[in-house]
Amino acid sequence: MTIPSLNHLTIAVVGATGAVGAEFLKIVEQRHPGLHNLKLLASSRSAGTKLTVNGKEFTVEETSEDSFQGVDIAFISASTEASRHWAPIAVAAGAVVIDDSSAFRMQDDVPLVVPEVNGADVTWHQGIIAIPNCSTTPLVMVAHPIHRLNPIKRIIADTYQSVSGAGGAAVQELREQSEALLKGQPVTPRHQPRQIGFNVIPQIDSFLDNGYTREEQKMIDESRKIMHAPEIRVSATCVRVPVMVSHSAAVHIETERAMNPSDIHALLMDMPGVTVLDDTGAGVYPMPWDVAGEDDVFVGRIRKDASDLNGIALWIVSDNLRKGAALNSIQIAEELVSRECLKPGSTPKPKFRFGEPLNVENANVQADYEYFRANMDELLPEYKERYVAIINKTVVDSDDERPALSRRVRAKYGNGAILMAQVNFMPRIANFPTISTDGNLGKSSLEAEIV
Ligand SMILES: NC(=O)c1ccc[n+]([C@@H]2O[C@H](COP(=O)([O-])OP(=O)(O)OC[C@H]3O[C@@H](n4cnc5c(N)ncnc54)[C@H](OP(=O)(O)O)[C@@H]3O)[C@@H](O)[C@H]2O)c1
Repeated sequence: MTIPSLNHLTIAVVGATGAVGAEFLKIVEQRHPGLHNLKLLASSRSAGTKLTVNGKEFTVEETSEDSFQGVDIAFISASTEASRHWAPIAVAAGAVVIDDSSAFRMQDDVPLVVPEVNGADVTWHQGIIAIPNCSTTPLVMVAHPIHRLNPIKRIIADTYQSVSGAGGAAVQELREQSEALLKGQPVTPRHQPRQIGFNVIPQIDSFLDNGYTREEQKMIDESRKIMHAPEIRVSATCVRVPVMVSHSAAVHIETERAMNPSDIHALLMDMPGVTVLDDTGAGVYPMPWDVAGEDDVFVGRIRKDASDLNGIALWIVSDNLRKGAALNSIQIAEELVSRECLKPGSTPKPKFRFGEPLNVENANVQADYEYFRANMDELLPEYKERYVAIINKTVVDSDDERPALSRRVRAKYGNGAILMAQVNFMPRIANFPTISTDGNLGKSSLEAEIV
């Protein structure tokens, strides 16, 4: 695969001295060795620090109102507060912000992007694009190809997250606590809510009224937004473990129809950015130590869920600093360049709010339909030569009408026709070749090419 060049751009990195920032600069050297127009920014604490990238020495500057003049893309990976403060300033200066924090992820006008899953969403950015939480990204990389083939009804994800997910200071804390505990000395938690050395902590971020932590709620909300699938039921338990780098997750996925582990295996082998490491006979499965420093999301232990006829259980591991953060950000920049949409507002954004049912009032039917057509290759590569769009109130509002409608479609277009509609309605249209449009289509009033 050819990587679009970023060499002609001026790129600012806010948080260049942090755990994600350091990984970001490493990936720049690997993927863009000709990129020299960098501005390395942080807080006053590390202003003046010298860092070498692509053979050129840079001095880290304190981020200021003037930092973003002449910048094309600003990566912000510092803290939620820093993002809230600096992102609008960077956008006002003309930069596109790719933001690593949770500040903007669930905002309607901010695409939340994992390029292999919903890269087309970068086209409707209004100046800010968010990247997901580092546990959400690997989950959707695995869930989305399954969902496209066989709609997912429910996901349960239990994570085992490394300390680097909490920043450079938490990595240092694990080192210090491990050494102290081996010497029999007491430890006092500073960057984690409890002792992390030789322990696991079932709390990442603060608790919400519903009993979940913010980290868990992020996985629930973000995975549905990225997959354009507000109807999927998601639950997560996020646990911090004494691992330096790479997050793992034990995931249970329930689909509309039963699937064999071998089908899932084959499907994930074809997913760009996913590597299947699954041979239990030979003791082969992914582990955080081995995956640290790798770009891909690794999957193993693929098996039937013993508690659910339509369920699959699997084990996912990925480097949280790379695909979970820095690599995903750089891939978004590459996506912006290859789609030629650095400037905001080039494409109208889908009008509906994620999580709300579509209706005549909130569906931006024409824009959503154009979005689908423009991204046909990516959304439905296998069907691009033969599709029929039918987005009709009848389809979605009346169970009784669906078989009749599918008969009419088939009579006119033959068995090769594809019925395009919201993913949650597809499985109920019996005996018809149907496919999800990623839920991005206004479904209520577009009288498309038929009926
Ligand atoms: N770690 C992960 O796996 C991961 C994954 C996804 C998302 N994220 C998100 O990425 C962000 C950074 O995480 P991290 O792990 O790299 O944290 P980190 O190691 O603590 O580094 C924080 C960086 O931000 C800079 N910074 C702090 N406050 C700032 C401010 N007000 N203005 C400008 N720069 C400021 C720091 O500069 P100084 O050196 O001057 O202190 C440092 O470079 C967080 O929002 C985090 O939630 C992290």
